[in-house]
Amino acid sequence: MRLLEDKVAVVTGGGNGLGRCHALALAAAGARVVVNDLGGDVTGGGSGDAAARVVEEIQDLGGQAVANRASVADWAGAATIIEQAVATFGGLDIIVNNAGINRPASIADLSEKDFDLEVGVHLKGTTAVCHHAARFWTDRGPATGRAIINTSSPVGVHPMPDGGPYCAAKAGIAALTMVLAQELAGLGVRANAIAPAARTRMVMASPSVDQLMPRSTGFDRHLPDHVSPLIVYLASPLCRFTGRVFGVEGPDVALYQPWSADWLVSGSGHWPVEALAEALATLPEQAAIRAFYPGGRIDTVFPPRRTLKTLGLVQ
Ligand SMILES: NC(=O)c1ccc[n+]([C@@H]2O[C@H](COP(=O)([O-])OP(=O)(O)OC[C@H]3O[C@@H](n4cnc5c(N)ncnc54)[C@H](O)[C@@H]3O)[C@@H](O)[C@H]2O)c1
Repeated sequence: MRLLEDKVAVVTGGGNGLGRCHALALAAAGARVVVNDLGGDVTGGGSGDAAARVVEEIQDLGGQAVANRASVADWAGAATIIEQAVATFGGLDIIVNNAGINRPASIADLSEKDFDLEVGVHLKGTTAVCHHAARFWTDRGPATGRAIINTSSPVGVHPMPDGGPYCAAKAGIAALTMVLAQELAGLGVRANAIAPAARTRMVMASPSVDQLMPRSTGFDRHLPDHVSPLIVYLASPLCRFTGRVFGVEGPDVALYQPWSADWLVSGSGHWPVEALAEALATLPEQAAIRAFYPGGRIDTVFPPRRTLKTLGLVQ
């Protein structure tokens, strides 16, 4: 018996890159898959038959799949994905929210369209699909073995310049995942997120791709296929986590620690501003972080020293 035999899975953005690999891996593990993809380009324009091509690949390998071309950014379109899973395969067990675009711009250069598309596809799209799935599961009642896997990003957890709405939407997806884990546990749903790194067309559109993800002659750690075993694990009964975010690139898997806080407590209850400044002066202006970027683990600090220097906050 395969790990996901008889399960019904949805993969959004399953027509290319990571989503295609996830859909193939879920089908190989026995799941029947709704491959959603509007067939767009990396910046969110255009349309095409990417979903149908992946469905054909799955069927050629003996699996079961059906294509859906809705945009996840459209609330009613997202509903059709869930409806199609139920109408075609009779149920719904696994959601992989993966659809994504990238329109990098600094906060000064950003357009309203950049913002609406980034937040629309990533945060609204992920929320919409989870909402419609949660409605279906609420109507059906609790059951075991349900899973949501959302797609955050290394830059959602450790943001970098020139991607404000992308980083913010990916951080929002990590937060949403932690909400879902608590809200949906009673329905038997585990919710986790991944922060992947892989050489897909999205990354290839970046000028720094060769530096971030160089091609090597031996084991190619940046192939998107390496990410999908984690998706199958998170979707399966083997998974013992909920509400967590996993970094993954080639052979490296990382489990992020959630936000934590350093506390200052005022002896008198109310903080006079000068006393607050004095107390805050005892804390370091930078936080040590263990980041996970393409290439693996980086031990560094935030904010970067150059940022503090630019503002004259350190010498
Ligand atoms: N590749 C990486 O290193 C990396 C790093 C961090 C996060 N991610 C995330 O992983 C996910 C997959 O990205 P990828 O690298 O495979 O890119 P990709 O461009 O190869 O695939 C993205 C797919 O999403 C589809 N899509 C876009 N908007 C959609 C919409 N509104 N509705 C339905 N489908 C839509 C596209 O048509 C495309 O097939 C994205 O969420 C991306 O942000 C990727």
